[in-house]
Amino acid sequence: MRPAIILSGHTMALGVARALGTMGVPIVVVHYDERDMAHRSRHVTVALRAPHPEKHTEEFIGLLLGSAARFAGGVIFPTSDESLTVASQYKAVLEEHFIVACPDWAVTRRCIDKKLTYALAESSGVAAPRTLVPNSWDEIESYAGTGEFPCLVKPCQSHLFYERFQRKMFRVDTPAQLLDVCERAAEAGLEIMLQELIPGDDSQVVNYNAYAWNGVAVAEFTAAHVRNAPPWFGSPRVVLSREIPEVLEPGRAILHAIGFSGYACTEFKKDARSGVYKLMEVNARHNLSTLLAVRCGTNFPWLHYRHLVAGELPVASDYRKGVYWIDLSRDLGYSAIYLTRERYTVGAYLRPYLHPHVFAILDWHDLRPFLRRIAHLLRQGFASACGSLLARWRQPWQRRSANLNYKSAKGATS
Ligand SMILES: Nc1ncnc2c1ncn2[C@@H]1O[C@H](COP(=O)(O)OP(=O)(O)O)[C@@H](O)[C@H]1O
Ligand SMILES: [Mg+2]
Repeated sequence: MRPAIILSGHTMALGVARALGTMGVPIVVVHYDERDMAHRSRHVTVALRAPHPEKHTEEFIGLLLGSAARFAGGVIFPTSDESLTVASQYKAVLEEHFIVACPDWAVTRRCIDKKLTYALAESSGVAAPRTLVPNSWDEIESYAGTGEFPCLVKPCQSHLFYERFQRKMFRVDTPAQLLDVCERAAEAGLEIMLQELIPGDDSQVVNYNAYAWNGVAVAEFTAAHVRNAPPWFGSPRVVLSREIPEVLEPGRAILHAIGFSGYACTEFKKDARSGVYKLMEVNARHNLSTLLAVRCGTNFPWLHYRHLVAGELPVASDYRKGVYWIDLSRDLGYSAIYLTRERYTVGAYLRPYLHPHVFAILDWHDLRPFLRRIAHLLRQGFASACGSLLARWRQPWQRRSANLNYKSAKGATS
């Protein structure tokens, strides 16, 4: 069997590795981040440490091309936005040796750059939050003077913004906050949009997952977010497989407008004021909760692989509803941090664990990725505890030395 060469080693990568590994596909994981853990899965035949795809693109592509003889004919699955961007941009070169499981850059761009996604939504009649893409500082100031608040300052390219600010977007409540955030984004060279805030909690956000070819969706699966990490503007930590017929039509319409070929996870949020689902984004790659659809009977990575390798176009099939996907460590951590603000009942916290579920990372038959995740979290916790202890210890010391400086300065002048 041709190997699957999975780019990135995070949760999405692990989902694809397990989905394909259980079907007997040899798995190669190309990982580059210290938080990665997919390369520790028992399904992985070869793990390659790579430089960051977007920061060291030439070396990253060089590494893939250098391994062409070893993994010739393999199927490359980019599973993060940065590896998707690079694999898609270099698709023609990579295709001389591999099959590349993502669209061409002209198409991928329409998903990676959200201002293009929203423009296509508007021209194809797919409901989306009101969005302004400011072209000048004057436009931002004019919005600050007359626009609606609260609103969101949201990046056009999410992964670049996250890397800089460690958050996906900013909610701003006043013109001053808006100007401040826009200034910081401009200083970082990041393009932003000003977007209407759709009210409602995380349970109003849903996924429309689909395999499409030439813009036509052929296999579909829907699921609802239960809670996100962090709440309100994060990525899912618990998801539930559920039939959501209202998003089938807009989901198909946006993939058609994009001209999408391959697998995509499209997110919508239901606007409580009108009951209309509004487009959040289109992820042009396998998503965080990949293992949910697999557990429910729709193995998208396998359908994707079979289609690209053997030409078998997937067909629509039924799937199991009422199954939860849980990212255990993030659910426990964020539930603890937001205990008083999220205000879920004990029953709501426990429900996913008491019903059929699949964990994002924890798997008793494939434990090492989870252990590595825990080790990383412990290291991170230890480092931040040391950091805050050091800061506390420094404060009085800095005060003392400031006093001494003051006294000696006084002594020198008196
Ligand atoms: N306009 C909006 N109104 C309300 N919530 C939003 C809006 N845009 C995004 N969100 C929330 O933030 C989450 C992340 O936004 P998204 O556009 O999917 O960014 P990313 O590409 O970083 O995942 C969404 O799942 C949703 O919960
Ligand atoms: Mg998202």
